[in-house]
Amino acid sequence: MSDLAIDGAQRVRSTPLPNVGDISGRTFGDEEIANLTEVIRSGKLFRFGGKFVEKFEQDFAAMLNVKHAVAVTSGTAAIHTALGALNCDIAKEMITTPITDMGTIAPIMFQNCIPIFADLEPEYFNLLPESIEAQITDKTAAIIVVHLFGQPANMDAILAIGKKYNIPVIEDCCQAYLAQYNGKLVGTMGDIGCFSLQQSKHIASGDGGIIVTNDDELARRARLFADKGWPRGGDVRQYVFLGINYRMNELTGAVASAQVGKVDNTVHSRRAVAKAMTEKLASIPGIVVPKVREGCEHSWWLYPFMIDENVFSVSPKEFAAAVSAEGVGVGHGYIGQPIYMGQILQEKATYGKSQCPFSCPHYGKELVYKPEDCPNALEILRRLLILPCNERFTESDIDDIYNAVAKVAKAYTK
Ligand SMILES: Cc1ncc(COP(=O)(O)O)c(C=O)c1O
Repeated sequence: MSDLAIDGAQRVRSTPLPNVGDISGRTFGDEEIANLTEVIRSGKLFRFGGKFVEKFEQDFAAMLNVKHAVAVTSGTAAIHTALGALNCDIAKEMITTPITDMGTIAPIMFQNCIPIFADLEPEYFNLLPESIEAQITDKTAAIIVVHLFGQPANMDAILAIGKKYNIPVIEDCCQAYLAQYNGKLVGTMGDIGCFSLQQSKHIASGDGGIIVTNDDELARRARLFADKGWPRGGDVRQYVFLGINYRMNELTGAVASAQVGKVDNTVHSRRAVAKAMTEKLASIPGIVVPKVREGCEHSWWLYPFMIDENVFSVSPKEFAAAVSAEGVGVGHGYIGQPIYMGQILQEKATYGKSQCPFSCPHYGKELVYKPEDCPNALEILRRLLILPCNERFTESDIDDIYNAVAKVAKAYTK
């Protein structure tokens, strides 16, 4: 009989770790309450006439030292607004990563464009520049980079490709607030940076999003796109192009604007927590701790790690289940499979039976997504294990994480 909780023995930890699903792992407090109270008492819940959404945009732009920020309703809306601002023709291709949230991909198809997947760096799980370049065609209209889990992508190489082929680069920073690449903040290097304020993100307002750019014309178009194409504050009294309503409201803005001031602390604390986790976990034979790209600062939305399968008698999935049974939740495989293997892209489940935009005559290609399109992504997901990383983790929480992983590692060492 083993001493593992999965076999019925006592577990390492019996109370939940601080987590982003509730106040135990979130930074909401009096500032948010005061702002919300002010909004309700003012009776001004619409962003135009209120003050908090505008303040959130100004403070966020100042934090990133960019010219423009446009608040929207989600990270998905942020990506969609970025693509709306780019104003590409239909049936163009946009190159992105197969390991991401659907919020990166769905906006491509809502703009009647085609997602194309490049493979990933095995050690950092971000887009592999040479794979991006191999996918470029005369239809490529954008590269959408995701800084997965808070680790910056290889921006120098990706921006160089964008420049070489004159293709805009959009940065999906939903998981990567204040992550840095060679001293530059993510979101400020590409043409547009996109962020999410969903419950689990470094800045949270339940749902919400924001885009940043230094380009006046992109900012102008983004504002219009997220506001149904309606120009505010000028003489024009008509909807000027096809847009949608992604306006953030003042209740969300009240929370978001209080959260901006806290994110620097959150990210710094997470870096300290992740460092402590790495120091401890690296001492366990067979545990492969995450590497941070040289010259970069990670922001640790999650803490990805792997196991050396030569060392252990179980699969990554079984390893995760055993650690979870110890009371320290470990996820296996993140999104399970490359996003192109899911039902939406396999069945082209888009608009009725049309399979649009894939069937669009302007596209004129037959695209089939096959598992082997991105072999590194397949292997990453087969191996990937995920621990949480939270600014509220104490030394004793980190000890419990270490003890749970070490206990399972010891029991399963060949
Ligand atoms: C990388 C990435 N892109 C986009 C999104 C979409 O953000 P939202 O859920 O706010 O729409 C998420 C959210 O999880 C994400 O992690």
